[in-house]
Amino acid sequence: MQKNLFNYYKKYLPINENTPFVSIGEGFTPLVKSENLSDKYKCNIYFKLEGSNPTGSFKDRGMFLTVAKTLEKKKKKIICASTGNTSASAAAYGAKYNLETVVIIPKGKIALGKLIQAMAYGAKIISINGNFDESLLAVKDISDSLDFEIVNSINPYRLEGQKTGAFEIIEQLGFSPDFQFIPVGNAGNISSYWKGYKQFYDSKICNKLPVLYGIQADGAAPLVDNKIIKNPNTIASAIRIGNPASADLAKDSINESSGEFIKVSDDNILDAQKIIARKEGIFCEPASAASVAGLIKLISKGYDFSNKNIVCILTGNGLKDPENAQQYLQSNIIKTSSDPDEIREAILKY
Ligand code: F0G
Repeated sequence: MQKNLFNYYKKYLPINENTPFVSIGEGFTPLVKSENLSDKYKCNIYFKLEGSNPTGSFKDRGMFLTVAKTLEKKKKKIICASTGNTSASAAAYGAKYNLETVVIIPKGKIALGKLIQAMAYGAKIISINGNFDESLLAVKDISDSLDFEIVNSINPYRLEGQKTGAFEIIEQLGFSPDFQFIPVGNAGNISSYWKGYKQFYDSKICNKLPVLYGIQADGAAPLVDNKIIKNPNTIASAIRIGNPASADLAKDSINESSGEFIKVSDDNILDAQKIIARKEGIFCEPASAASVAGLIKLISKGYDFSNKNIVCILTGNGLKDPENAQQYLQSNIIKTSSDPDEIREAILKY
C-alpha cells in the first residue's frame, strides 16, 4: 500500500477524529544525491524532487491538510489566488472531494502547463488584469461574502501540511542537512520547512537545525531588498511576487536559522535549470532552479560548503512550463527522411 501523509505524520499534524481522510497520493518524494555537482563543489548536494507530487509541485503537501480541514468545517467551496501551482493543486483536490473550486490568476502570467491542469480538473478560472499580489487581495475581499475557504498559504493548514517536507528530509538523510536552499515567493514554504525542522528537533528526532537560504529573483526580491515591489518581474513566474503574505514568518525563519535571503538573476536561474537537467537528468521549473542558482552564487562568492550536506528544494516539475524552456533551450533538431543511411549521417554530423 502507498503510504499517505495523513496517517504517517498524523501525530505531528492538527488532525483529530473529526478530520476526514484526504489524499491524492501526495508526499514521500525522492531525495536524490546530485553526483556531478557534489563532485564539482566538494560537498554533498541533494535535490528534494517536489515535482514528483501528484500535481507536479510541493503545493499538494499543504493542500491535502487544508482540504481535510475545510471538509471538517463542512465547507463546500475553496478559492485561491495563484501564480499557477496552487491553482493546479487546489483544483485537483477540489475535483476529488467535490468542492466548488475558484482560482484567480494574473492574466497571461502563468505557465501553460499549470493553466491546463486547472482546466483539466474542472476549476472555475478567473483571469484578472493584475498581478499575483492583486489576485490575493481580491481573494481576501471576496471569500467571506461568498462563503469560500481560502486555500492560499495564508491558511495556516497549508503551512502545517508543508512541514512534512522537512520531516521527510530528516528521515531520508537520517539527520538534518547543514544547509537548505529554497525558492521564496509568497514566503509560505520556507516558513513551513523551518516549522518542520524545529518540530522534529523539539521532539528529539534530529539533533541540529539547518541554516536556511531563501532565494528570490532579482526583479521580484522584496525580502532581499526589504521593500514591497509594485511590479515584480522574473522569468520564474511561480515566484513573481512583490508583497509576500508570509514575509514576517519567513524573516523569522531566516533569522532563527542564521541564514540569508539571496537574489539571483534570471540568467542565473536559467543556467541552473540547464545544469540540473544536463548534469543530473532532472527537469525542474525555473522557480525551483533558483535554489540551485543561489547555492552556485554563494559558492562563487567564496562561501565554504566543503563536505557539508546541502538540500536544494526543487519545488516544481519543468514540464509545467515548456514554453519558457523552449524559448531558450536551443536544440538543433535535424530533419531527415526515414532512410537509415540519411539518419546515420545526420547522427555522425550532429
Ligand atoms: N516554487 C514554486 C514552483 C512555486 O509554485 C512557488 C509558489 C514557490 C516556489 C514559492 O513558494 O510562495 O511558499 O514562497 N507558488 C505559489 C502559487 C505562489 O500560486 O502557485 P512560496
